[in-house]
Amino acid sequence: MSEKSKDQLCRGSVSDSYMAQQSDSYKSWYAAGAVVLLAAVYTWLLHEFGWFTCVLLAPTPDEITWSNSNWQEIEEGSLFILSAYEDRRFQPHYVRIMGMESLGPAQQTKDQPVNVSAIEEHELTCVLWYDNGKRDVVAAERRTMHKQRTIYDGSITYMAYLYSCPIPAARETPPSRVSLTFDVCERITNVVNVTSYGPSKKLHDPDQERDSAAGRTAPPSDKIALCLKPLNFPTKDIALRLAEWIEIQRLQGVDVIFTYVYDVTDTAMVVLRQYQQRNIVDFVIAMLPDRLPGNGKAREKFLRRTSMQLQLTEKVVLNDCFYRHLAYDYVSVIDLDEVIVPRQHHTLTEMLDNLRDVTVTVPKNAGVADGGGESQLAPPCASYCFRQSMFLDEFHQQDHDDIPEYLHVMQHTNRSMYVLTKNELSVKSLCSTRGVIVLGNHGPYQVATGYKDRCYVNRKMALLHHYRNSCNIIHNIQRSSECNKTKSDTIQEDNMIWKYLDPVRQRVEQMAFDCWQSRENSA
Ligand SMILES: *[C@@H]1O[C@H](CO)[C@@H](O)[C@H](O)[C@H]1NC(C)=O
Ligand SMILES: *[C@@H]1O[C@H](CO)[C@@H](O)[C@H](O)[C@H]1NC(C)=O
Ligand SMILES: *[C@@H]1O[C@H](CO)[C@@H](O)[C@H](O)[C@H]1NC(C)=O
Ligand SMILES: *[C@@H]1O[C@H](CO)[C@@H](O)[C@H](O)[C@H]1NC(C)=O
Repeated sequence: MSEKSKDQLCRGSVSDSYMAQQSDSYKSWYAAGAVVLLAAVYTWLLHEFGWFTCVLLAPTPDEITWSNSNWQEIEEGSLFILSAYEDRRFQPHYVRIMGMESLGPAQQTKDQPVNVSAIEEHELTCVLWYDNGKRDVVAAERRTMHKQRTIYDGSITYMAYLYSCPIPAARETPPSRVSLTFDVCERITNVVNVTSYGPSKKLHDPDQERDSAAGRTAPPSDKIALCLKPLNFPTKDIALRLAEWIEIQRLQGVDVIFTYVYDVTDTAMVVLRQYQQRNIVDFVIAMLPDRLPGNGKAREKFLRRTSMQLQLTEKVVLNDCFYRHLAYDYVSVIDLDEVIVPRQHHTLTEMLDNLRDVTVTVPKNAGVADGGGESQLAPPCASYCFRQSMFLDEFHQQDHDDIPEYLHVMQHTNRSMYVLTKNELSVKSLCSTRGVIVLGNHGPYQVATGYKDRCYVNRKMALLHHYRNSCNIIHNIQRSSECNKTKSDTIQEDNMIWKYLDPVRQRVEQMAFDCWQSRENSA
């Protein structure tokens, strides 16, 4: 039921009951006065407390229906929510909720696409709860986290959504908690904290603070957060690869790395915890919602298969990671076997300063029919996309003797000169937190009005290094043809990454020592 119809229903019933009893015209003046007063009180209550016909109570902790330790369940498995974030980038401000919605049994077969419209017919309402006891009831807006509206894939039982709840402009503080419901008059059994962000949550930068205290403005410095693809390495020990990868990112100017952990070995967990203690890495132990496999071999199999359902599940956690880091300037989604390497600058931050200069101005006359003459500004980039180049294991013939063999990236310097086609599925991106609304694996899916969704970065400026075992993906013709071109082009030494070699070698060795020591101490 919409808010308007509830409002009419309530006013209607109040005025009818009064009017029917009154016949005397003198008395009916009083009645009319009472109705006006009641309506005013009702409007005030509605405004102040979100009060109307149904009794709205926030669930107590033991009234919440949990699907597992990460996900709350709404309406008997119809909808699952993970987290909620405040978003002050637009007017009105929003609460953004990460969730997945069930398609119901037998909704989909191999040749019948998922019918997103059928899900979206069911209107959803957000209840915003404030610390002062007030609340707002607003309509939720769905945005799918998938690029296409229809998906043909027999594997899908849950769709991924970003739910947006507009915060009424009159509110001075953001809500502290939020619930989602199909029917506000039913008892609500879900509520998640709304994570807020602001300058106070920005990373501590003593230099910048000192400068601004002294009235000097510090040079602009972009804050970068990386979202590392969820980790599922139950048997392969990635401890040292993780340490090497993290240290390279730090030397490139990345401020924080966030990831989700399904399963890693004990050694890898020690490394993650060491970096977590130093505020460099943060992570959440990941769980899949509802009937998706919860543990063991079944989950491992599900996570290894590149099904559309797995990809949709990952989109929810990637967007969760993105919204966690709105206080940063750029967020990048990247895998453990990938590194974006600037070729003309030492760090990503230096390169970003330069990229803005290059991409923002459109040359005079460009694309202007009448000859133009005015120089114009291109729309700002919601993302900078980096083209991919392969450093396959099979190109590696012999170790560099002077480099420890466990430094996988530093050892693998042979690359194919073929740079993969400028295609949105073969790039990785640095996404602007100003412009992106829904994030995908390779770049933004939905951007704010006025933003250009992708700006491809010249390959001379930077490349995405991909350290794969092999590039063969048999069932995908386009990828297979890219792989063939990768293998048949010249294989050549490219040691651009060595600009980070000395500090990486030192820091990984130190980390290995610290981890060994922490295990000794806890043993
Ligand atoms: C999808 O669902 C909508 C709403 O239920 C319906 O009107 C439409 O016909 C369906 N489309 C297909 C292709 O089944
Ligand atoms: C939600 O916020 C409350 C109050 O700040 C806090 O006590 C509680 O632990 C939070 N819950 C979660 C799941 O973070
Ligand atoms: C790189 O490839 C060349 C040519 O195949 C080979 O001679 C060289 O040993 C390789 N370098 C490394 C580090 O494997
Ligand atoms: C790539 O090379 C393999 C082996 O030579 C071949 O079987 C396959 O058809 C090629 N794929 C494409 C798309 O050209």
